[in-house]
Amino acid sequence: RIAGPCSLVIFGVTGDLSRKKLMPAIYDLANRGLLPPGFALTGFARRDWADQDFGQVVYNAVKEHARTPFRQHVWDRLAEGFRFVSGTFDDDDAFDRLEQTVQALDRERGTAGNHAFYLSIPPGAFPVVLKQLARSGLARQDGDGWRRVVIEKPFGHDLRSAIELNEIVNDVFPEDSVFRIDHYLGKETVQNILALRFANQLFEPIWNSNYVDSVQITMAEDIGLGGRAGYYDGIGAARDVIQNHLLQLLAFTAMEEPVSFSSDELRIEKIKILNATKLVGPLGETTARGQYTGGWQGGELVRGLTEEEGFDPNSRTETFAAITCEVDTRRWAGVPFYLRTGKRLGRRVTEIAVIFKRAPHLPFDATMTEELGQNALVIRVQPDEGVTLRFGSKVPGSQMEVRDVSMDFGYGSAFTEASPEAYERLILDVLLGEPSLFPVNAEVERSWQILDPVIEHWAQQEKGPAPYPAGSWGPDPANAMLDRTGRKWRRP
Ligand code: BG6
Repeated sequence: RIAGPCSLVIFGVTGDLSRKKLMPAIYDLANRGLLPPGFALTGFARRDWADQDFGQVVYNAVKEHARTPFRQHVWDRLAEGFRFVSGTFDDDDAFDRLEQTVQALDRERGTAGNHAFYLSIPPGAFPVVLKQLARSGLARQDGDGWRRVVIEKPFGHDLRSAIELNEIVNDVFPEDSVFRIDHYLGKETVQNILALRFANQLFEPIWNSNYVDSVQITMAEDIGLGGRAGYYDGIGAARDVIQNHLLQLLAFTAMEEPVSFSSDELRIEKIKILNATKLVGPLGETTARGQYTGGWQGGELVRGLTEEEGFDPNSRTETFAAITCEVDTRRWAGVPFYLRTGKRLGRRVTEIAVIFKRAPHLPFDATMTEELGQNALVIRVQPDEGVTLRFGSKVPGSQMEVRDVSMDFGYGSAFTEASPEAYERLILDVLLGEPSLFPVNAEVERSWQILDPVIEHWAQQEKGPAPYPAGSWGPDPANAMLDRTGRKWRRP
């Protein structure tokens, strides 16, 4: 579907997210023919730029990061709708100028009074920007076109701050005009969890505690945190990734079949699962956290977190976090869901591994099954997108020896169309007013409620996060956490 006429205003247009993701995504949408002729993009930031300077910044970002080929005529048409307003967030005049700019675009560019505001800014600046949007009339919902706001995480740093933030946002924008970005939901492979589960007869009968032993959800990154101290120090891996991306992946993996894929029906099922999701304790044994130290990674000597620029040399911020949850429903009773994430790990990989129980009986000589593991269905979210099924097979030869093999589906070989970038899908959905892939505040608040006890527990410990060398698979306590249950982390 093509978006209708509208104006998009980005706050924080000089930031990394804007340059690497938002600007290229807007160009790619235009290039795929998904933006209407009546589309305009306005940047708002402190820099003293003219419209042309802003255009040049977008151009550079597109040249460097766009997915689709550069086409001059697409660019020229898009760039005619670029405007820039210079100002600080506490400057009433700047917001009045922004209001006039957006109004003028309605007339000149035909954006029809439909305005979306993208807050790609630190959360501390949300209240002032929202207040300015209200004061200047930019947020006014007066029946003449729509007004929407897009916010990036972090949505608070605990349940209390999330509730406060939601109140501030909902004071200015009604909940159905608020689009909270969890960019994992924009990924094709994440949406495919629903297709895999609900389009097939094969998996549903075994998708429960009778057959599933445990689920491991891993989001591992090889990058460090250089340059991100301002956002990350004091926040850490659990708040940065588990609270949002990993709990959303858990919800998609565990939820019941929705009545339809409409946003309301999806949310009902996701919220039911999040409400049933509980931590397993004692937290000293069922959670783990770590902080990377220097080491070799990919042939490169890298620094530890506390030597990274901007980080407190005594920082206790965790760069690795793992927790154990259970979903208290008839389907999942007793099945542990292990969630882990970390920076500077062995390699970049996100996957959901559904690990099945062993066959109740193996009619083989024990020596013939030494290399037979548990069956597993692994949803490879990235980078090598696809699905793998691991199962036992006879090793060729005269003996009945059995060993694990895998059966693979890869997006790259099955489909010729390249997947759109998550931000492309999500920005288009904002402009279309399609809310299915955006968590509502009930999900955000419930996710904090799940995670808060872990963060409080860690804060009370005398010892900080356990060290792990860059390029490894995390700290010792993470292994101990699974060893205690007789399980092992999968090595992706
Ligand atoms: C963001 C986190 O939400 O996701 C980052 O704040 C992380 O710390 C990023 O690096 C990873 O996204 P992706 O799409 O590369 O897995």
